[in-house]
Amino acid sequence: MLILAIESSCDDTAAAVIEPENRILSSVISSQDEIHVRFGGIVPELASRRHIEMIRPVVHQALAQAGVKLEDIDLIAATQGPGLVGSLLVGFTFAKALALVNNLPCVGVDHMAAHLLSCLLEAQQPSFPYTALIVSGGNTSLFAVEDPLTFTRLGRTRDDAAGEAFDKVAKLLDLGYPGGPEISRLATSGNPHTFAFPRARLSKESLDFSFSGLKTSVAACVHKLKKTDRTLPIPDICASFQEAVVDVLVDKTLAACARTGYRSVVIGGGVAANPRLRQALSNRCTEEGLQLFMPSPALCTDNAAMIGIAGYYQFLSGRFVDADSDAYSRSPL
Ligand code: KG4
Repeated sequence: MLILAIESSCDDTAAAVIEPENRILSSVISSQDEIHVRFGGIVPELASRRHIEMIRPVVHQALAQAGVKLEDIDLIAATQGPGLVGSLLVGFTFAKALALVNNLPCVGVDHMAAHLLSCLLEAQQPSFPYTALIVSGGNTSLFAVEDPLTFTRLGRTRDDAAGEAFDKVAKLLDLGYPGGPEISRLATSGNPHTFAFPRARLSKESLDFSFSGLKTSVAACVHKLKKTDRTLPIPDICASFQEAVVDVLVDKTLAACARTGYRSVVIGGGVAANPRLRQALSNRCTEEGLQLFMPSPALCTDNAAMIGIAGYYQFLSGRFVDADSDAYSRSPL
């Protein structure tokens, strides 16, 4: 079975061809970073316009790289939500139209569900059930994953997502957009103990997150440092900020595992590509005897291959979309 998958929920236009038996035949991503970098964040209007320009070439490229034709495809899967509706509508409408014209089944995929299942595309796969941390630019949530269609949310951010905090701190330090990769690169030469930034753990029982206080604390620190003659110790700020985010993410994930009792842990989302988070979580999981499954960095950030694998399970359960199905901005998960 061959699945053509399309993703356009935010600022990347992506398409992939996969075989559900976990083989990625192609995965093409057209990034819009150069458009949004000067604004320090995504401009929704510009994002949807760019998706319109890129959707056809990206889908063509995905088919060509896989060495297949549209006639070979058995199923079309596209992100239905959550995300920027103007962006989602481009990929989702394109997918529905392609399916209609070619008489193919079409499934709508929840972007969060796709992140929760992206590790199923790796050679080493977790078995169900598992505990999952999804940490990206728009979400920071913990889930109990019973099977490929049953997810129970255990906690979520009450304000900023972790990736959003990375991006806002990067903007504060003039490091460009998206900020996560640059902060993690600079952090490798910084001392994570230079600044004692706050770790918001909320109540002991809570599996929710809060990152807005941390971001404000970094802003106050930078403001204070700028009043002195010293040049900003940017690597130290990056390392100290990153350590504060990682500490909370790791502690809450381990608390979620204690709550579910599941022995497998999965991570996903753009921030899951962060090397320090991967290392710290890996160490803690080893200490606790938990098995950790991490998608490769390319499968952590937005991609269409994960939409394909999540779409496959929608297909198996017979959940199809029709021409009237609409995109949605908020995830029901
Ligand atoms: O999952 P994703 O590609 O897009 C959505 O949010 O939907 O995640 C993007 C986020 C951005 O906030 C980016 O700064 C962050 O992931 N990110 C990272 C790293 N790579 C990407 N954050 C920390 N360290 C990284 N290495």
